[in-house]
Amino acid sequence: MKDVYILGIESSCDEMSASIVKNGNEEIKTIVLSQMDIHKKYGGVVPEIASRCHIESASMVLEELFCDIDIKLNDITAIAVTYGPGLIGSLLVGLQIAKTLSFVYNKPLIPVHHIAGHIYANSLVKEMKFPLIALVVSGGHTDIIYMKEHFDFNKLGGTLDDAVGECYDKVARVVGLDYPGGPLIDMYAHKGKHVYKLPLPLDDDSYNFSFSGLKSAVINLVHNSAQKGENVNIENLATTFQDTVVEIITKKTMRALKEHNVNNLIVCGGVAANKGLREKFQTLCNEENIDFTVPKMNYCTDNAAMIASAGFYAYQKGIRANMSLNAVAVSSLYEYVRLFKCEE
Ligand code: KG4
Ligand code: ZN
Repeated sequence: MKDVYILGIESSCDEMSASIVKNGNEEIKTIVLSQMDIHKKYGGVVPEIASRCHIESASMVLEELFCDIDIKLNDITAIAVTYGPGLIGSLLVGLQIAKTLSFVYNKPLIPVHHIAGHIYANSLVKEMKFPLIALVVSGGHTDIIYMKEHFDFNKLGGTLDDAVGECYDKVARVVGLDYPGGPLIDMYAHKGKHVYKLPLPLDDDSYNFSFSGLKSAVINLVHNSAQKGENVNIENLATTFQDTVVEIITKKTMRALKEHNVNNLIVCGGVAANKGLREKFQTLCNEENIDFTVPKMNYCTDNAAMIASAGFYAYQKGIRANMSLNAVAVSSLYEYVRLFKCEE
């Protein structure tokens, strides 16, 4: 088979990124430009600032990508781009670049769902084996997905309210930590003790999650302590909170593997960078003989290598778009393949 080189472009939130991946799993080069430091002072991503920064940095990111490598735009097989979900202004910048390059260089345009991208960050670690359970834990998603083969996404369960990353960020804010709070809570969680009492949320027979009650329990705990003139110990609160989150997530995911007779687990999304979650899954998967894969730390959060990797499998599946492709803020992973699959 002729080698397939996919140029991936990702700009759905506050990272502008471009990458070239060969045959779905060999990363040639990736550039990620994060705006984290700009948004930090606002306590979250400001959409208008994010899209403006993307416009300013996009050509630089692409120039840097093609600098010092032997591959030229003409050598690229197809262009994969995140079309959604995400911040509409941010998405539009990457999408416009992808459409322009696709038109000018006459290359197929491949729309990639952002969550499919997160899932395929794992294919840069090792070849994905099926059937598998994919757990997506990010700032916007907490889904347990069954995949019989490539690009076959079946939802087993998901969050009924807040996503787990969102919950981490809100808890962090309550105790006065900077955005994004997830990595900081993770760091403190390794220094404290599980001394507080928090409820195990939605501990039922479904594969769904609910984190808003847990967030409220943390807020109440902090406020009640303040009323008594006491300070909560951030390290101990982080440990208690993280233990609770890790317990419910691992419990439901391990049950999904068992009940569906699946031996392969992949975890992805920003919260997959969580050391407590990675360690717990590794221990449980060793005990149960489950093949466990998680992306390398910096590819848990947004990057274009995962979009290029997903783009390769989407390309094989006949997923294509034309110049009418538009960005969408809200988009279901479970509708995605049907929407864009073309008969070859
Ligand atoms: O996947 P991502 O970059 O954005 C979405 O597509 O939503 O994930 C960002 C989320 C943030 O909520 C951030 O706090 C969380 O991932 N996060 C973590 C850790 N690193 C990032 N949460 C817990 N522990 C971490 N180590
Ligand atoms: Zn993401």
